[in-house]
Amino acid sequence: CSSPLVDAFDRRISYLRLSVTDRCDLRCTYCMPERMTFLPRKEVLSLEELHRLSLAFIACGVTKIRLTGGEPLVRRDMMDLVRALGRQLGSGLEELTLTTNGTRLAAFAGDLAAAGVRRVNVSLDTLDGELFCRLSRRDRLDDVLHGIAEAQAAGLKVKINTVALKGLNEGEIPRIMEWAHGRGHDMTLIEVMPLGEVDGERVDHYLPLPAVRDRLAERFTLTDLPDDTGGPARYVRVAETGGRLGLITPLTNNFCAGCNRIRVTATGQLFACLGGAEQVDLRSALRSDAPDARLADALDTAMRIKPERHHFRIAEGEAPAQPRHMSMTGG
Ligand code: GTP
Ligand code: 5AD
Ligand code: SF4
Repeated sequence: CSSPLVDAFDRRISYLRLSVTDRCDLRCTYCMPERMTFLPRKEVLSLEELHRLSLAFIACGVTKIRLTGGEPLVRRDMMDLVRALGRQLGSGLEELTLTTNGTRLAAFAGDLAAAGVRRVNVSLDTLDGELFCRLSRRDRLDDVLHGIAEAQAAGLKVKINTVALKGLNEGEIPRIMEWAHGRGHDMTLIEVMPLGEVDGERVDHYLPLPAVRDRLAERFTLTDLPDDTGGPARYVRVAETGGRLGLITPLTNNFCAGCNRIRVTATGQLFACLGGAEQVDLRSALRSDAPDARLADALDTAMRIKPERHHFRIAEGEAPAQPRHMSMTGG
């Protein structure tokens, strides 16, 4: 790579979100339909290809890689990739992390820590077993809670991701926050985004986070923290719990000006923005006769086409911003 990745809006891209599979063992209702169509397995990059791709990004100045899905831990041999990337830590790569739904985390926590992973983000929308079943269409809450406990026991720092859902987990948000902070976990609330078709109407459960914040402020003392993470979350300190709460507000407050990331799907499609259609095919570059040159060209193109911002809207009768689901680009 000749120069670090900088896009047309002068944003330095140092963070790769790599989706290693679009498959998942849950079926969260706001994410995908019950009868989800997954990518044909033959389209998916091999672990060796995912590794080569990651090395190309590291050579171009990417310092942080987050493995996502779908659910990354459902991919067979996934730990081989984690271990291979873990060996790059300290040689360009500064952080290797994972976003997971937690169902299989208990079995992998120790190996992840041994491979050099220091933090994991775990999705958890409710602590209520029945609501968990309704929301994710699978009875796995106990596995997730066990996974979180094992991750912590293995020395991993855990961040809890909670999608705020009107009429579903709305009333439970303070309790989840107290639970998370009580165990030393940061927590981030996320506004539901219109990506891909689902069985119901996302708008029915869309909960704008400014209203959630106002309601929390009636019970808790919230102090804004400096915005220095480079990520989409704006953090507050909660005096009563001592913990940090992040708010990810793609609909009510755009945060794209500070975007530092790009996304690659399990089939090697680079998406320049979570909410945009701009894409570059890295798989054909990777499989060409001159992979290094073709990949460098592809990354150049990605930097030129990365849009200034996304334009998510959630409203009755409004089509999704993109036909692809979050599980393809990993959030
Ligand atoms: P850290 O700051 O590294 O902990 O991670 P993160 O918050 O960027 O990652 P995580 O995987 O926990 O992301 C949480 C969710 O935030 C994602 O699943 C998305 O829903 C949302 N998100 C992350 N990055 C973006 C972004 O660039 N745009 C939008 N609209 N949403 C994002
Ligand atoms: N809108 C917002 N968040 C979503 N997630 C999955 N689909 C959506 C959506 N449509 C969340 C998951 C997880 C993170 C990776 O993305 O709950 O916390
Ligand atoms: Fe799976 Fe995450 Fe989508 Fe839930 S939100 S179905 S855990 S990919």
